Amino acid sequence: MTFRLSVLLAALCAGVAIYSSYASAQTNRTSVPPPTAQQIVLARQAAFEMSAITFGSLKWAMREGKEAKTQGFYTGAMVSWSRALPSMFPSGTGVGETPVPTAALSEIWTNWRDFQAKDADYIAAVTKLNDMVKSNDTANFTSQLMTIKDTCDACHKDFKTRD
Ligand code: HEC
Repeated sequence: MTFRLSVLLAALCAGVAIYSSYASAQTNRTSVPPPTAQQIVLARQAAFEMSAITFGSLKWAMREGKEAKTQGFYTGAMVSWSRALPSMFPSGTGVGETPVPTAALSEIWTNWRDFQAKDADYIAAVTKLNDMVKSNDTANFTSQLMTIKDTCDACHKDFKTRD
């Protein structure tokens, strides 16, 4: 067998091995049960904490004199979270509905359209910030962070218990 052919065969075998482990991972994945209501509450609280850390890091970057174009990883993460946020509030995850404490008020579910509207404001504000990264608009970045903060506060005012 030529050297070339054996290299080709080895690569093919490796490919098959990788594919079969991928395929079995896929099979295993279907056997994982969906998250419980309690797990969803814990996951969203962790995501909120991480979004607050990301937001704080953006403020810090501006104070340090960084350019807007260096912040794309952070602003992209905020856009992703703002879009995923409503899906982390399925019914059955409010106060007293799971064993874990939550600050999510029942108004979220009685006033779902307004909750979604508040999130739409948040999505718009972080998307605008993400666009400022693309155009490297450092001059207006900090004031846009303030606009975002207003959208956090507006949702918390109506839908989250006070700390
Ligand atoms: C559309 C509504 C909405 C928006 C927008 C929103 N939040 Fe929240 N936030 C909530 C709700 C509801 C909770 C309570 C979640 C729970 O306890 O289950 C919460 C909880 C939190 C928590 C507490 C998490 C914990 O440890 O339990 C932090 C921190 C937080 N939000 C930060 C932010 C920041 C920072 C922003 C903006 C950058 C923001 N939130 C935007 C609705 C929102």
